[in-house]
Amino acid sequence: MKSKILLSLLVLIFAISSVHSAKADEVVNLVCEYHTNPIGIDIEKPRLSWQMTSDGQNVMQTAYEIRVSASKNDLQKGMNLIWSTGKIESDKSLDIIYGGPALKSMQRAYWQVRIWNTKNKATAWSAPAYWEMGVLDSNLWSASYIGMNDITTEKKSHPSQYFRKEFQTNKPIKSARVYVTSLGLYELHLNGKKVGNDLFTPGYTTYNHRLQYQTYDVTQLLQENNAIGAIVGDGWYRGNIGWKGDYAFYGKQLGVLVQLKVDYADGTSETIVSDENWKASYGPILESDMYNGEKYDARLEMEGWDESNFDESKWTQAQILEHRKDILVAPQGVPVKAIEEIKPIELITTPKGEIVLDLGQNIVGWARMKVSGKAGEKVTLKFAEVLDKEGNFYTVNLRAAEATDSYILKGEGEEVFEPHFTSHGFRYIQVIDYPGTLNLDAVTGIVIHSDMEPTGTFTTSDPMINQLQSNIQWGQKDNLLDIPTDCPQRDERAGWTGDAQVFSMTAAYNFNVAAFYTKWLKDLALDQHENGLVTNVVPDILTGAQGVAAMGGATGWADAAVIMPWTVYQSYGDKRILEEQYNSMKGWVDYMENESGEDYLWNNNKHWHWGDWLAFDANNPAYNGSVTEKDLIATAYAYYSTTILSKTAKVLSKNEDVSNYDSLAKNIKEAFIKEYVTPNGRLVSHTQTAYALALSFDLIPENLIEKSAEYFAEDVKKFGHLTTGFLGTPLLCTTLSKIGRDDLAFMLLNRKEFPSWLYPITMGATTIWERWDTQKPDGTIIEGMNSFNHYSYGAVGEWMYQHVGGLQIDPENPGYKHILFHPHPGGGLTSAKAEFLSRYGQIKSNWEIKDDMFHYEVVIPTNTTGTVTFPQGESTTLLLNQKKLKPDMQEKLQLTEAGVKLTLGSGTYHFSYPAMKLKS
Ligand code: BGC
Repeated sequence: MKSKILLSLLVLIFAISSVHSAKADEVVNLVCEYHTNPIGIDIEKPRLSWQMTSDGQNVMQTAYEIRVSASKNDLQKGMNLIWSTGKIESDKSLDIIYGGPALKSMQRAYWQVRIWNTKNKATAWSAPAYWEMGVLDSNLWSASYIGMNDITTEKKSHPSQYFRKEFQTNKPIKSARVYVTSLGLYELHLNGKKVGNDLFTPGYTTYNHRLQYQTYDVTQLLQENNAIGAIVGDGWYRGNIGWKGDYAFYGKQLGVLVQLKVDYADGTSETIVSDENWKASYGPILESDMYNGEKYDARLEMEGWDESNFDESKWTQAQILEHRKDILVAPQGVPVKAIEEIKPIELITTPKGEIVLDLGQNIVGWARMKVSGKAGEKVTLKFAEVLDKEGNFYTVNLRAAEATDSYILKGEGEEVFEPHFTSHGFRYIQVIDYPGTLNLDAVTGIVIHSDMEPTGTFTTSDPMINQLQSNIQWGQKDNLLDIPTDCPQRDERAGWTGDAQVFSMTAAYNFNVAAFYTKWLKDLALDQHENGLVTNVVPDILTGAQGVAAMGGATGWADAAVIMPWTVYQSYGDKRILEEQYNSMKGWVDYMENESGEDYLWNNNKHWHWGDWLAFDANNPAYNGSVTEKDLIATAYAYYSTTILSKTAKVLSKNEDVSNYDSLAKNIKEAFIKEYVTPNGRLVSHTQTAYALALSFDLIPENLIEKSAEYFAEDVKKFGHLTTGFLGTPLLCTTLSKIGRDDLAFMLLNRKEFPSWLYPITMGATTIWERWDTQKPDGTIIEGMNSFNHYSYGAVGEWMYQHVGGLQIDPENPGYKHILFHPHPGGGLTSAKAEFLSRYGQIKSNWEIKDDMFHYEVVIPTNTTGTVTFPQGESTTLLLNQKKLKPDMQEKLQLTEAGVKLTLGSGTYHFSYPAMKLKS
């Protein structure tokens, strides 16, 4: 009897738990303009997106309903709605444009969604989310820019400036927002605390055209007696930028603008603004510079400067600065933050006797140091990416960047130092004059970068390839610091368009870069010349400089204007970026057309180009350029950009442009073939880069493709290694795979000798190098332009995810609405896992060859579908969850040369089949 009761109890528990495990579909992850509950935005018609979670398979959204209200309570009751869509039959769950009445400045809107699934079953309303508008009208800025009488006249960092103001609030507060920006970089403080955890605010934009302000909710920080203050340092605005020794490029005088709006519970409000009544002073930051570092004297700290009741008698009156307010914009990108901390792994005394800490990873950020000693003692920290051949601290490749922080102790027990407005690219820290014994615990590496959401992982059975992926991801973290930089360590760190362009698709696998690139591409468009010329760096700090770099318009670099919006569209399904960048895209293509003239050749004599920058060139050890003719590269790129523009015009239903740019593309292609392709399919530049460009951009006539492909493959075989530079490398493996030569692509990937992707790893690299031989096998480091952290060659990551892992975008259904799964085992790998957090949810394409079976796990998020191509799979032996396919699935199988194909709805699937043919 007892056991019977127990049994029925168990059955009951099982029944309950299984009911629970089949959870109802839910709407989660509500985002507005790529951000969760953003405040202070200035997009008047923001786009709303969500995800759907479900335990079931084949789950699609069939309809949605959004409602919006000014009050959270009302929203949940469905009352006083400012916008309600009603039930809309649609499977669209991304970027639904808010269609209610225009919101006012600083107004908040709460929203929620419910959706219907394939069984026409509605979910519950989602948890409410919100967005809040920023300052939409420049007349609403009642605050003034304020500064000090400190105008830079020499090329030297001045001390950072401190500003403060005390004020009272004497009524209960409902909410408070501070809107703040600066000329220079700022840190805002309120009642003894730093406001927010963003770094390097207000961010880096093309300051002459636009300046971002941040919005912070400071409701909880206010009290009766308050002190608000800001520290302002040189940053990109007034410090060193560009390798030509530019200083104070955007302005000679620092400034800050603060507007704090307090809404009281009684319905009244008050605004505290920066004005001539604020006080100003210098403080402990004696110098701060992006390249050179920070000099800090703790003896000059002003205890309590950001709290009320501070004695400000020694402070001077702030000055009002005249500066435009109509250039103020809300940020659309991703704030820079301190993301990770790394402890040193080793304390080294070098042959020269230098005391050096090794973090084991090349990072970007700074060192936090704990130190105790006497007042006036000075500790110096120097930063380097590598040790030289002899094992000594090596800084030659930083060129003019001093990359040195120094700290003078105040002598009051344990002191902790972190710089404010500088960052370094480093793995090694030299510590000079540390009082007492330095141990590993005294220093921590602080990793900073734009806080992009990590989205991709790629792992294989080969630890070296995994290290390559790690190096690529670190290269991305280290170089996405508000703008995409070429490198993070030397006196450069500029927004080179070419580097950004070649890496953008790889970047979009690793992290969510949609908002990051949206922001930067706006600056690209603003810096673009009236005639359509795109500058070579963005923000364009080369304006007015001499030399080729300042000319702009280099092929493959300027094409970022066209290629990158398209990448964002493909990866995130974001159509608005195409709309907003359209004129810029068109401007660039038109510029090339105009300059090319009647023969449609975008040749080097018509405009200066870098070509296949830093390509392998056995005859020229200095690697000054490329061996592929620049003319050929430029016309190939002109064609490619034109085809993308025409596809964009199609997406945007600009029919006239579609036909215009189609015929332009046709003309360029004809010109290219006439000029650069022999009747036998050989290219006049008989190089890997030339073939990779021509074959991947579809510039070879149909009947010659086979022959060109053979030439291409022969060249790779002849060298036995890659010979490509910045423009050829991203396309190399992709194109070899396209022509059916995975064997050669894997040979290049697996190669460990110079030149190759894995060679730097044999030399201990933890990031991607600028040159194939940044460091020679004997440890010699090339002098001059040479960085250990340049992500461009990491663009092979795109092929690893897409081809090896098999996780691909369907160009017809961008943003992973429909996913193509097609792994390509090879190169001796026994497994590869490509996982990607799409805007719909997690996607997985994970394969493994084990016990002579090919195992393939596919995960398709809800509200999407996928088509799987099983490499060398056969319909008769294919198993799903170890069982034969059910007849309905069998029926759906399509037989192709590459293997069988199957289109599936959302869900998790484990396929397996004999791996006989895949083993070789
Ligand atoms: C940068 C590159 C950039 C190049 C232009 C260099 O100084 O570091 O990465 O693209 O100039 O050729």
